Amino acid sequence: MLKLLVCVSGGGTNLQAIIDSIADGRITNAKIVGVISNNPGVKSLERAANAGIPACVISPKDYADRDAFNRAFLEKVKDTDPDLVVLAGFLVRIPEEFVKEYSNRIVNIHPSLIPSFCGVGYYGLKVHERALERGVKITGATVHFVNEGMDEGPIIAQKAVEVLDGDTPEVLQRRVMEQAEWVILPKAIDDIANGRISVTDGKVVRI
Ligand code: GRF
Repeated sequence: MLKLLVCVSGGGTNLQAIIDSIADGRITNAKIVGVISNNPGVKSLERAANAGIPACVISPKDYADRDAFNRAFLEKVKDTDPDLVVLAGFLVRIPEEFVKEYSNRIVNIHPSLIPSFCGVGYYGLKVHERALERGVKITGATVHFVNEGMDEGPIIAQKAVEVLDGDTPEVLQRRVMEQAEWVILPKAIDDIANGRISVTDGKVVRI
C-alpha cells in the first residue's frame, strides 16, 4: 500500500480527485496518510477533514527565515513517512534537500503541456492568462516527477485540452482541471502505486 502525502495551497480540487479516486477504485494500492497546506483556512483542509485525513498547516510566514521553514517542512514529511509526495497545487518552493532525498518520489501537477507555459512565474491562473495571450489552440496538463529544476523533471503523463473562442483564464482553468488534471493525476498515482512505471535515463518508461 503506497502511502501518499499531499501538499496543497488552496481549493484542493486535485486533492479531492485523489480522495474520490481512492474511494471508487480508480486508484488502488494507495492511501493518503497526510495533507500539508501552507495556507490556513483553505478549502483543501476542509476536504481533508471530511475524508478523515490528518492535515496540518506549515507556512513560511510562521518561521523566522526560509531555512527554519524548510527544516519544519522536512521534519513533517519525515514524521508522515510517505512513499510518494504529491504536490497538488502547492505554491511554495520546496527545499532542495527534500528533492534530493525523495528523488523520483515527488510528483507535481502543472496546468499546461510542459515545456510550454512552465518555469518561473508560471503558476495558477497566470499559466492560462499567458496561454490565451499567446493564442494557443491546444493546452492541457502535465504530471511529472520533481527534480531540482523548475517543472523540468521526468514527465509521467500529459493530456491535451482545446482552447475555445471567448475563453477567459478562469473558464480555461476549469476546463483544464476537469478534462485533464483530475484525470491524469489520479491515473499517474495509480500507475506508480501498482509499479507500472519507472525512471530510466531521466525519462519515465512503462514496465
Ligand atoms: C491546479 O491548476 C494545479 O495544476 C496547479 O494549481 C491548481 C491547484 O488547484 N498547480 P486545486 O487546489 O487542486 O484546486
